[in-house]
Amino acid sequence: MSNRPLHIVILAAGKGSRMHSSTPKVLHKVAGKSLLGHVIDSSLKLEPEHIHIVVGHGKEQVVEAFDGHISRAKLNWIEQTEQLGTGHAVSTALPNIQGDANVLMLTADVPLMQANTLASMVDAMQSHSLVLLTAIVDNPSGLGRITRDESNTVTGIVEQKDASAAEQKICEINSGIICAHKEPLTQWLSKVSNDNAQKEYYLTDIVDIAHQSGHPIAAQHPADNAEVMGINSRSQLAHVERLYQHVKAEQLMAAGVTILDPARIDIRGDVEIGVDTTIDINVVIEGPTKIGAGVHIAPNCLILQSEIDDGATIHPNTVIENAKLGRNVNVGPFARLRPGTNLSDSVRIGNFVETKNAKLDVGVKVNHLSYVGDATVGRDTNIGAGVITCNYDGAYKHQTTIGQNVFVGSDSQLVAPVEIEDGATIGAGSTITSKVDKDHLAISRAKQRQISGWQRPKKESK
Ligand code: UD1
Ligand code: CA
Repeated sequence: MSNRPLHIVILAAGKGSRMHSSTPKVLHKVAGKSLLGHVIDSSLKLEPEHIHIVVGHGKEQVVEAFDGHISRAKLNWIEQTEQLGTGHAVSTALPNIQGDANVLMLTADVPLMQANTLASMVDAMQSHSLVLLTAIVDNPSGLGRITRDESNTVTGIVEQKDASAAEQKICEINSGIICAHKEPLTQWLSKVSNDNAQKEYYLTDIVDIAHQSGHPIAAQHPADNAEVMGINSRSQLAHVERLYQHVKAEQLMAAGVTILDPARIDIRGDVEIGVDTTIDINVVIEGPTKIGAGVHIAPNCLILQSEIDDGATIHPNTVIENAKLGRNVNVGPFARLRPGTNLSDSVRIGNFVETKNAKLDVGVKVNHLSYVGDATVGRDTNIGAGVITCNYDGAYKHQTTIGQNVFVGSDSQLVAPVEIEDGATIGAGSTITSKVDKDHLAISRAKQRQISGWQRPKKESK
Protein backbone atom coordinates (compact mmCIF):
# COMPACT_ATOMS: atom_id res chain seq x y z
CA MET A 1 0.00 0.00 0.00
CA SER A 2 1.01 3.57 -0.60
CA ASN A 3 2.34 5.00 2.65
CA ARG A 4 0.27 8.20 2.62
CA PRO A 5 -2.51 8.09 5.23
CA LEU A 6 -5.78 6.85 3.74
CA HIS A 7 -9.03 8.78 4.12
CA ILE A 8 -12.28 7.48 2.70
CA VAL A 9 -15.12 9.73 1.53
CA ILE A 10 -18.52 8.12 1.01
CA LEU A 11 -21.09 10.09 -0.97
CA ALA A 12 -24.52 9.58 0.55
CA ALA A 13 -26.32 12.91 0.28
CA GLY A 14 -28.47 12.23 -2.77
CA LYS A 15 -32.21 11.77 -2.55
CA GLY A 16 -32.51 8.55 -4.48
CA SER A 17 -35.68 9.82 -6.20
CA ARG A 18 -35.91 6.71 -8.35
CA MET A 19 -36.57 4.59 -5.22
CA HIS A 20 -39.87 6.44 -4.55
CA SER A 21 -39.39 5.98 -0.84
CA SER A 22 -39.67 7.94 2.39
CA THR A 23 -36.57 6.06 3.57
CA PRO A 24 -33.28 7.57 2.34
CA LYS A 25 -31.90 5.34 -0.42
CA VAL A 26 -28.71 4.49 1.45
CA LEU A 27 -30.76 2.94 4.30
CA HIS A 28 -32.48 0.45 2.02
CA LYS A 29 -31.13 -3.02 2.72
CA VAL A 30 -29.28 -5.77 0.93
CA ALA A 31 -29.02 -9.02 2.90
CA GLY A 32 -30.40 -7.32 5.99
CA LYS A 33 -27.75 -4.57 6.04
CA SER A 34 -28.19 -1.02 4.72
CA LEU A 35 -26.43 -0.07 1.49
CA LEU A 36 -24.35 2.46 3.41
CA GLY A 37 -23.60 -0.19 6.07
CA HIS A 38 -22.12 -2.45 3.40
CA VAL A 39 -19.94 0.36 2.07
CA ILE A 40 -18.80 1.38 5.58
CA ASP A 41 -17.94 -2.22 6.51
CA SER A 42 -15.88 -2.77 3.34
CA SER A 43 -14.18 0.59 3.94
CA LEU A 44 -13.20 -0.37 7.48
CA LYS A 45 -11.26 -3.38 6.19
CA LEU A 46 -8.77 -0.91 4.64
CA GLU A 47 -8.10 0.57 8.08
CA PRO A 48 -8.44 4.22 6.99
CA GLU A 49 -7.70 7.14 9.31
CA HIS A 50 -11.31 8.25 9.01
CA ILE A 51 -14.40 7.60 6.96
CA HIS A 52 -16.03 10.89 5.98
CA ILE A 53 -19.65 10.41 5.02
CA VAL A 54 -21.34 13.18 3.07
CA VAL A 55 -25.02 13.30 4.01
CA GLY A 56 -27.89 15.56 2.99
CA HIS A 57 -31.32 14.07 2.29
CA GLY A 58 -32.65 12.38 5.43
CA LYS A 59 -29.38 13.08 7.22
CA GLU A 60 -30.77 12.70 10.78
CA GLN A 61 -32.21 9.31 9.90
CA VAL A 62 -28.98 8.21 8.24
CA VAL A 63 -26.70 9.33 11.09
CA GLU A 64 -29.01 7.79 13.69
CA ALA A 65 -28.94 4.44 11.89
CA PHE A 66 -25.22 4.19 12.70
CA ASP A 67 -25.39 5.35 16.34
CA GLY A 68 -24.62 1.87 17.58
CA HIS A 69 -22.03 0.92 14.94
CA ILE A 70 -18.95 -0.61 16.57
CA SER A 71 -16.62 1.69 14.63
CA ARG A 72 -18.69 4.85 14.99
CA ALA A 73 -15.62 6.74 16.30
CA LYS A 74 -14.10 6.42 12.83
CA LEU A 75 -17.17 7.87 11.13
CA ASN A 76 -17.17 11.59 10.43
CA TRP A 77 -20.55 12.89 9.24
CA ILE A 78 -20.42 15.88 6.91
CA GLU A 79 -23.46 17.78 5.78
CA GLN A 80 -23.88 18.84 2.18
CA THR A 81 -26.82 21.24 2.47
CA GLU A 82 -27.48 21.46 -1.27
CA GLN A 83 -26.87 18.54 -3.58
CA LEU A 84 -24.94 20.33 -6.30
CA GLY A 85 -23.22 17.22 -7.65
CA THR A 86 -20.69 14.56 -6.76
CA GLY A 87 -17.73 16.94 -7.26
CA HIS A 88 -19.34 19.46 -4.92
CA ALA A 89 -19.95 16.67 -2.36
CA VAL A 90 -16.24 15.73 -2.34
CA SER A 91 -15.25 19.43 -2.09
CA THR A 92 -17.48 19.69 0.99
CA ALA A 93 -15.63 16.79 2.62
CA LEU A 94 -12.02 17.70 1.76
CA PRO A 95 -11.50 20.46 4.40
CA ASN A 96 -12.02 17.73 7.04
CA ILE A 97 -8.95 15.86 5.87
CA GLN A 98 -5.79 17.22 7.52
CA GLY A 99 -2.35 16.82 5.96
CA ASP A 100 -1.26 14.76 3.02
CA ALA A 101 -3.49 11.84 2.19
CA ASN A 102 -4.85 9.42 -0.36
CA VAL A 103 -8.56 10.02 -0.70
CA LEU A 104 -10.69 7.05 -1.71
CA MET A 105 -14.11 8.21 -2.89
CA LEU A 106 -16.99 5.74 -2.77
CA THR A 107 -20.69 6.05 -3.46
CA ALA A 108 -23.10 4.70 -0.89
CA ASP A 109 -25.30 3.10 -3.52
CA VAL A 110 -22.71 0.53 -4.69
CA PRO A 111 -22.87 -2.07 -1.88
CA LEU A 112 -21.14 -5.18 -3.25
CA MET A 113 -17.72 -3.57 -3.54
CA GLN A 114 -15.02 -5.82 -2.09
CA ALA A 115 -12.25 -4.53 0.16
CA ASN A 116 -9.49 -6.24 -1.87
CA THR A 117 -10.60 -4.40 -5.01
CA LEU A 118 -10.35 -1.12 -3.11
CA ALA A 119 -7.00 -2.10 -1.59
CA SER A 120 -5.52 -2.72 -5.02
CA MET A 121 -6.63 0.79 -6.10
CA VAL A 122 -4.84 2.25 -3.07
CA ASP A 123 -1.73 0.20 -4.00
CA ALA A 124 -1.73 1.79 -7.45
CA MET A 125 -1.49 5.23 -5.78
CA GLN A 126 2.25 4.57 -5.39
CA SER A 127 2.75 5.42 -9.05
CA HIS A 128 -0.38 7.44 -9.92
CA SER A 129 -2.17 10.46 -8.53
CA LEU A 130 -5.54 9.26 -9.83
CA VAL A 131 -6.90 5.69 -9.95
CA LEU A 132 -10.31 4.86 -11.38
CA LEU A 133 -12.34 1.71 -10.99
CA THR A 134 -13.96 0.97 -14.34
CA ALA A 135 -15.74 -2.02 -15.85
CA ILE A 136 -16.61 -3.28 -19.30
CA VAL A 137 -20.35 -3.98 -19.30
CA ASP A 138 -22.96 -5.16 -21.82
CA ASN A 139 -25.41 -2.38 -21.01
CA PRO A 140 -23.67 0.88 -20.06
CA SER A 141 -26.90 2.90 -20.23
CA GLY A 142 -27.18 5.64 -17.60
CA LEU A 143 -23.54 5.43 -16.50
CA GLY A 144 -20.50 7.63 -17.08
CA ARG A 145 -18.32 6.41 -19.99
CA ILE A 146 -14.52 6.25 -19.96
CA THR A 147 -12.88 8.00 -22.90
CA ARG A 148 -9.43 6.94 -24.10
CA ASP A 149 -7.10 8.21 -26.84
CA GLU A 150 -5.46 6.23 -29.69
CA SER A 151 -2.77 4.96 -27.32
CA ASN A 152 -5.52 3.69 -24.98
CA THR A 153 -4.67 6.30 -22.32
CA VAL A 154 -7.65 7.40 -20.19
CA THR A 155 -8.57 10.98 -21.12
CA GLY A 156 -11.82 11.58 -19.25
CA ILE A 157 -15.28 10.48 -18.16
CA VAL A 158 -18.36 11.65 -19.98
CA GLU A 159 -21.78 11.35 -18.33
CA GLN A 160 -24.57 9.65 -20.28
CA LYS A 161 -26.55 12.89 -20.56
CA ASP A 162 -23.56 14.75 -22.01
CA ALA A 163 -22.29 11.95 -24.25
CA SER A 164 -22.30 12.11 -28.05
CA ALA A 165 -23.82 9.21 -30.01
CA ALA A 166 -20.31 7.80 -30.51
CA GLU A 167 -19.46 8.13 -26.82
CA GLN A 168 -22.71 6.39 -25.84
CA LYS A 169 -21.44 3.30 -27.66
CA ILE A 170 -18.48 3.02 -25.23
CA CYS A 171 -18.91 0.00 -22.96
CA GLU A 172 -16.26 0.91 -20.40
CA ILE A 173 -18.10 2.60 -17.52
CA ASN A 174 -17.18 4.57 -14.42
CA SER A 175 -18.05 2.66 -11.25
CA GLY A 176 -18.12 5.96 -9.37
CA ILE A 177 -15.21 4.76 -7.22
CA ILE A 178 -12.12 6.92 -7.55
CA CYS A 179 -8.91 7.26 -5.53
CA ALA A 180 -6.80 10.44 -5.70
CA HIS A 181 -3.90 12.19 -3.99
CA LYS A 182 -5.39 14.97 -1.89
CA GLU A 183 -3.21 17.88 -3.04
CA PRO A 184 -3.83 17.65 -6.80
CA LEU A 185 -7.44 16.52 -6.12
CA THR A 186 -8.17 19.81 -4.36
CA GLN A 187 -6.79 21.74 -7.32
CA TRP A 188 -8.66 19.67 -9.91
CA LEU A 189 -11.94 20.12 -8.06
CA SER A 190 -11.47 23.89 -7.93
CA LYS A 191 -11.48 23.85 -11.75
CA VAL A 192 -14.69 21.79 -12.13
CA SER A 193 -17.65 23.81 -13.44
CA ASN A 194 -21.34 22.97 -13.67
CA ASP A 195 -21.52 23.69 -17.36
CA ASN A 196 -23.21 20.42 -18.37
CA ALA A 197 -26.58 18.80 -19.05
CA GLN A 198 -27.45 18.38 -15.34
CA LYS A 199 -25.97 21.72 -14.15
CA GLU A 200 -24.01 19.79 -11.53
CA TYR A 201 -20.41 19.86 -10.38
CA TYR A 202 -19.33 16.41 -11.56
CA LEU A 203 -16.56 14.62 -9.69
CA THR A 204 -15.94 12.80 -12.95
CA ASP A 205 -14.68 16.03 -14.58
CA ILE A 206 -11.44 15.79 -12.58
CA VAL A 207 -10.29 13.00 -14.91
CA ASP A 208 -10.08 15.25 -17.95
CA ILE A 209 -8.45 18.00 -15.86
CA ALA A 210 -5.85 15.57 -14.46
CA HIS A 211 -5.12 14.22 -17.92
CA GLN A 212 -4.69 17.75 -19.35
CA SER A 213 -2.20 18.58 -16.63
CA GLY A 214 -0.14 15.48 -17.37
CA HIS A 215 -0.94 13.35 -14.32
CA PRO A 216 -0.76 9.59 -14.95
CA ILE A 217 -4.19 7.95 -14.54
CA ALA A 218 -4.71 4.27 -13.79
CA ALA A 219 -7.93 2.40 -14.53
CA GLN A 220 -8.50 -0.90 -12.75
CA HIS A 221 -11.31 -3.44 -13.11
CA PRO A 222 -13.02 -5.35 -10.27
CA ALA A 223 -12.67 -9.13 -10.14
CA ASP A 224 -16.41 -9.41 -10.76
CA ASN A 225 -18.64 -6.79 -12.39
CA ALA A 226 -21.30 -7.44 -9.74
CA GLU A 227 -19.09 -5.43 -7.36
CA VAL A 228 -19.81 -2.21 -9.21
CA MET A 229 -23.58 -2.67 -9.57
CA GLY A 230 -25.16 0.59 -8.45
CA ILE A 231 -28.64 0.81 -6.97
CA ASN A 232 -30.92 3.57 -8.20
CA SER A 233 -34.26 1.70 -8.21
CA ARG A 234 -36.06 -1.05 -6.29
CA SER A 235 -35.64 -3.31 -9.26
CA GLN A 236 -31.85 -2.90 -9.05
CA LEU A 237 -32.09 -3.43 -5.28
CA ALA A 238 -33.79 -6.80 -5.83
CA HIS A 239 -31.27 -7.70 -8.51
CA VAL A 240 -28.31 -6.92 -6.23
CA GLU A 241 -29.96 -8.88 -3.38
CA ARG A 242 -30.11 -11.97 -5.62
CA LEU A 243 -26.50 -11.50 -6.74
CA TYR A 244 -25.45 -11.24 -3.09
CA GLN A 245 -27.44 -14.33 -2.08
CA HIS A 246 -25.98 -16.30 -4.97
CA VAL A 247 -22.44 -15.44 -3.80
CA LYS A 248 -23.31 -16.35 -0.18
CA ALA A 249 -24.78 -19.70 -1.20
CA GLU A 250 -21.71 -20.49 -3.32
CA GLN A 251 -19.40 -19.63 -0.39
CA LEU A 252 -21.34 -21.90 1.97
CA MET A 253 -21.39 -24.79 -0.50
CA ALA A 254 -17.67 -24.37 -1.13
CA ALA A 255 -17.18 -24.68 2.64
CA GLY A 256 -19.08 -27.98 2.86
CA VAL A 257 -22.73 -27.03 3.40
CA THR A 258 -25.41 -28.77 1.31
CA ILE A 259 -27.99 -26.33 0.00
CA LEU A 260 -30.85 -28.00 -1.82
CA ASP A 261 -31.65 -24.95 -3.93
CA PRO A 262 -29.19 -22.04 -3.81
CA ALA A 263 -31.90 -19.82 -5.33
CA ARG A 264 -34.20 -20.46 -2.36
CA ILE A 265 -32.12 -19.55 0.68
CA ASP A 266 -31.55 -16.14 2.24
CA ILE A 267 -28.60 -15.37 4.47
CA ARG A 268 -28.55 -11.96 6.16
CA GLY A 269 -25.69 -10.67 8.28
CA ASP A 270 -22.94 -12.81 9.81
CA VAL A 271 -23.89 -16.46 9.58
CA GLU A 272 -21.51 -19.37 10.21
CA ILE A 273 -22.51 -22.88 9.16
CA GLY A 274 -20.54 -26.08 9.77
CA VAL A 275 -19.70 -28.89 7.37
CA ASP A 276 -22.26 -31.46 6.29
CA THR A 277 -25.14 -29.34 7.41
CA THR A 278 -28.06 -29.61 5.00
CA ILE A 279 -30.42 -26.76 4.32
CA ASP A 280 -33.66 -27.38 2.51
CA ILE A 281 -35.64 -24.76 0.56
CA ASN A 282 -37.04 -21.42 1.74
CA VAL A 283 -34.87 -21.07 4.79
CA VAL A 284 -34.05 -17.56 6.02
CA ILE A 285 -31.14 -17.14 8.43
CA GLU A 286 -30.22 -13.81 10.02
CA GLY A 287 -26.97 -13.21 11.82
CA PRO A 288 -25.25 -13.21 14.08
CA THR A 289 -26.08 -16.90 13.90
CA LYS A 290 -23.86 -19.94 14.32
CA ILE A 291 -24.95 -23.34 13.10
CA GLY A 292 -22.80 -26.38 13.76
CA ALA A 293 -21.88 -29.42 11.69
CA GLY A 294 -24.26 -32.10 10.50
CA VAL A 295 -27.36 -30.05 11.27
CA HIS A 296 -30.46 -30.68 9.20
CA ILE A 297 -32.76 -27.76 8.50
CA ALA A 298 -36.04 -28.60 6.80
CA PRO A 299 -38.06 -26.30 4.50
CA ASN A 300 -39.55 -22.96 5.56
CA CYS A 301 -37.56 -22.28 8.69
CA LEU A 302 -36.71 -18.81 10.01
CA ILE A 303 -33.60 -18.65 12.20
CA LEU A 304 -32.68 -15.32 13.77
CA GLN A 305 -29.66 -14.48 15.95
CA SER A 306 -29.26 -17.99 17.35
CA GLU A 307 -26.78 -20.77 17.98
CA ILE A 308 -27.48 -24.33 16.95
CA ASP A 309 -24.98 -27.03 17.87
CA ASP A 310 -23.88 -30.08 15.88
CA GLY A 311 -26.31 -32.77 14.81
CA ALA A 312 -29.51 -30.83 15.45
CA THR A 313 -32.61 -31.48 13.37
CA ILE A 314 -34.98 -28.61 12.71
CA HIS A 315 -38.24 -29.78 11.15
CA PRO A 316 -40.30 -27.68 8.71
CA ASN A 317 -41.88 -24.32 9.49
CA THR A 318 -39.96 -23.69 12.68
CA VAL A 319 -39.16 -20.18 13.91
CA ILE A 320 -36.09 -19.77 16.13
CA GLU A 321 -35.15 -16.37 17.55
CA ASN A 322 -32.39 -15.47 19.99
CA ALA A 323 -32.13 -19.05 21.16
CA LYS A 324 -29.37 -21.50 21.99
CA LEU A 325 -29.77 -25.11 20.94
CA GLY A 326 -27.45 -27.91 22.08
CA ARG A 327 -26.22 -30.97 20.23
CA ASN A 328 -28.69 -33.35 18.62
CA VAL A 329 -31.77 -31.39 19.60
CA ASN A 330 -34.86 -32.17 17.59
CA VAL A 331 -37.28 -29.31 17.03
CA GLY A 332 -40.57 -28.87 15.17
CA PRO A 333 -42.37 -29.04 12.82
CA PHE A 334 -44.20 -25.77 13.56
CA ALA A 335 -42.28 -24.96 16.74
CA ARG A 336 -41.58 -21.41 17.88
CA LEU A 337 -38.49 -20.89 20.02
CA ARG A 338 -38.61 -17.32 21.28
CA PRO A 339 -35.83 -15.20 22.83
CA GLY A 340 -34.11 -16.66 25.86
CA THR A 341 -34.77 -20.27 24.92
CA ASN A 342 -31.84 -22.46 25.91
CA LEU A 343 -32.05 -26.13 24.98
CA SER A 344 -29.40 -28.55 26.24
CA ASP A 345 -28.28 -31.58 24.26
CA SER A 346 -30.89 -34.01 22.93
CA VAL A 347 -33.92 -31.93 23.91
CA ARG A 348 -37.02 -32.67 21.85
CA ILE A 349 -39.50 -29.90 21.07
CA GLY A 350 -42.49 -31.05 19.04
CA ASN A 351 -45.18 -29.43 16.92
CA PHE A 352 -46.98 -26.27 17.98
CA VAL A 353 -44.79 -25.81 21.03
CA GLU A 354 -43.76 -22.30 22.05
CA THR A 355 -40.88 -21.58 24.39
CA LYS A 356 -39.60 -18.27 25.79
CA ASN A 357 -36.98 -17.59 28.50
CA ALA A 358 -36.87 -21.29 29.10
CA LYS A 359 -33.91 -23.43 30.04
CA LEU A 360 -34.47 -27.08 29.25
CA ASP A 361 -31.88 -29.55 30.48
CA VAL A 362 -30.54 -32.62 28.67
CA GLY A 363 -33.14 -35.01 27.26
CA VAL A 364 -36.26 -32.98 28.10
CA LYS A 365 -39.25 -33.72 25.87
CA VAL A 366 -42.05 -31.28 25.12
CA ASN A 367 -43.77 -33.03 22.30
CA HIS A 368 -47.00 -31.28 21.42
CA LEU A 369 -48.96 -28.03 21.73
CA SER A 370 -47.38 -26.61 24.88
CA TYR A 371 -46.19 -23.23 26.12
CA VAL A 372 -43.09 -23.17 28.30
CA GLY A 373 -42.14 -19.64 29.32
CA ASP A 374 -40.04 -18.22 32.19
CA ALA A 375 -39.18 -21.76 33.22
CA THR A 376 -36.34 -24.12 34.00
CA VAL A 377 -36.87 -27.80 33.33
CA GLY A 378 -34.54 -30.51 34.71
CA ARG A 379 -32.97 -33.46 32.93
CA ASP A 380 -35.17 -36.08 31.23
CA THR A 381 -38.43 -34.46 32.27
CA ASN A 382 -41.39 -35.17 30.02
CA ILE A 383 -43.99 -32.50 29.45
CA GLY A 384 -47.21 -33.83 27.96
CA ALA A 385 -49.43 -32.34 25.29
CA GLY A 386 -51.09 -28.99 25.89
CA VAL A 387 -49.24 -28.07 29.08
CA ILE A 388 -49.10 -24.36 29.85
CA THR A 389 -46.81 -22.49 32.20
CA CYS A 390 -49.09 -19.64 33.30
CA ASN A 391 -46.27 -17.15 33.71
CA TYR A 392 -48.15 -13.86 33.52
CA ASP A 393 -50.64 -12.58 36.11
CA GLY A 394 -51.62 -9.53 34.07
CA ALA A 395 -48.98 -7.36 35.67
CA TYR A 396 -45.88 -9.46 36.39
CA LYS A 397 -44.06 -12.44 34.97
CA HIS A 398 -43.32 -15.37 37.31
CA GLN A 399 -40.99 -18.33 37.18
CA THR A 400 -41.82 -22.04 36.96
CA THR A 401 -39.15 -24.42 38.25
CA ILE A 402 -39.44 -28.06 37.24
CA GLY A 403 -36.94 -30.66 38.48
CA GLN A 404 -35.42 -33.75 36.89
CA ASN A 405 -37.37 -36.73 35.71
CA VAL A 406 -40.72 -35.07 36.26
CA PHE A 407 -43.77 -36.23 34.30
CA VAL A 408 -46.29 -33.48 33.60
CA GLY A 409 -49.54 -35.02 32.36
CA SER A 410 -51.30 -33.55 29.34
CA ASP A 411 -53.46 -30.43 29.53
CA SER A 412 -52.04 -29.25 32.85
CA GLN A 413 -51.60 -25.64 33.84
CA LEU A 414 -48.64 -24.73 36.03
CA VAL A 415 -49.56 -21.40 37.66
CA ALA A 416 -46.32 -19.53 38.36
CA PRO A 417 -44.56 -18.92 40.62
CA VAL A 418 -44.50 -22.62 41.27
CA GLU A 419 -41.99 -25.41 41.81
CA ILE A 420 -42.20 -29.08 40.93
CA GLU A 421 -39.49 -31.19 42.55
CA ASP A 422 -37.51 -34.06 41.04
CA GLY A 423 -39.38 -37.22 40.15
CA ALA A 424 -42.85 -35.73 40.69
CA THR A 425 -45.81 -36.71 38.55
CA ILE A 426 -48.63 -34.35 37.61
CA GLY A 427 -51.89 -36.03 36.69
CA ALA A 428 -53.37 -35.01 33.33
CA GLY A 429 -55.71 -32.03 33.42
CA SER A 430 -54.35 -30.63 36.70
CA THR A 431 -54.07 -26.99 37.63
CA ILE A 432 -50.99 -26.73 39.83
CA THR A 433 -50.81 -23.66 42.06
CA SER A 434 -48.41 -24.73 44.79
CA LYS A 435 -45.21 -26.69 45.22
CA VAL A 436 -45.20 -30.40 44.34
CA ASP A 437 -42.81 -32.42 46.48
CA LYS A 438 -40.16 -34.84 45.29
CA ASP A 439 -41.51 -38.12 43.88
CA HIS A 440 -45.15 -37.25 44.72
CA LEU A 441 -48.17 -37.41 42.48
CA ALA A 442 -50.18 -34.21 42.31
CA ILE A 443 -53.61 -34.24 40.79
CA SER A 444 -56.15 -31.43 40.94
CA ARG A 445 -58.86 -32.32 38.47
CA ALA A 446 -62.48 -32.94 39.56
CA LYS A 447 -63.24 -36.56 40.27
CA GLN A 448 -65.13 -38.32 37.48
CA ARG A 449 -68.78 -39.24 38.14
CA GLN A 450 -71.38 -41.06 36.03
CA ILE A 451 -75.10 -40.37 35.77
CA SER A 452 -77.01 -43.26 34.35
CA GLY A 453 -79.88 -42.87 31.86
CA TRP A 454 -78.87 -39.33 30.96
CA GLN A 455 -81.13 -37.74 28.31
CA ARG A 456 -79.62 -35.13 26.00
CA PRO A 457 -81.91 -32.15 25.30
CA LYS A 458 -84.02 -32.65 22.14
CA LYS A 459 -85.51 -30.05 19.77
CA GLU A 460 -89.31 -29.99 19.80
CA SER A 461 -90.76 -31.21 16.48
CA LYS A 462 -93.18 -28.65 14.93
C1 UD1 B 1 -22.40 8.56 -10.86
C2 UD1 B 1 -21.25 9.01 -11.77
C3 UD1 B 1 -21.21 8.13 -13.00
C4 UD1 B 1 -21.08 6.67 -12.60
C5 UD1 B 1 -22.19 6.28 -11.61
C6 UD1 B 1 -21.89 4.90 -11.08
C7 UD1 B 1 -20.93 11.44 -11.48
C8 UD1 B 1 -21.22 12.77 -12.05
N1 UD1 B 1 -21.45 10.39 -12.16
O1 UD1 B 1 -23.61 8.76 -11.56
O2 UD1 B 1 -20.13 8.48 -13.84
O3 UD1 B 1 -21.14 5.84 -13.76
O4 UD1 B 1 -22.21 7.19 -10.49
O5 UD1 B 1 -22.88 4.44 -10.18
O6 UD1 B 1 -20.26 11.34 -10.49
N2 UD1 B 1 -24.33 12.48 -4.19
C9 UD1 B 1 -24.06 13.37 -3.17
N3 UD1 B 1 -24.19 14.70 -3.40
C10 UD1 B 1 -24.59 15.20 -4.60
C11 UD1 B 1 -24.87 14.29 -5.64
C12 UD1 B 1 -24.72 12.93 -5.41
O7 UD1 B 1 -23.70 12.97 -2.05
O8 UD1 B 1 -24.67 16.42 -4.71
C13 UD1 B 1 -24.17 11.03 -3.93
C14 UD1 B 1 -25.43 10.23 -4.13
O9 UD1 B 1 -26.12 10.09 -2.89
C15 UD1 B 1 -24.89 8.86 -4.58
C16 UD1 B 1 -23.59 9.21 -5.29
O10 UD1 B 1 -23.25 10.53 -4.87
O11 UD1 B 1 -24.60 8.02 -3.47
C17 UD1 B 1 -23.72 9.17 -6.80
O12 UD1 B 1 -24.73 10.07 -7.21
P1 UD1 B 1 -25.81 9.65 -8.29
O13 UD1 B 1 -26.73 10.78 -8.50
O14 UD1 B 1 -26.39 8.33 -7.97
O15 UD1 B 1 -24.85 9.54 -9.57
P2 UD1 B 1 -25.08 8.67 -10.85
O16 UD1 B 1 -26.03 9.37 -11.76
O17 UD1 B 1 -25.39 7.28 -10.50
CA1 CA C 1 -25.97 6.17 -8.62
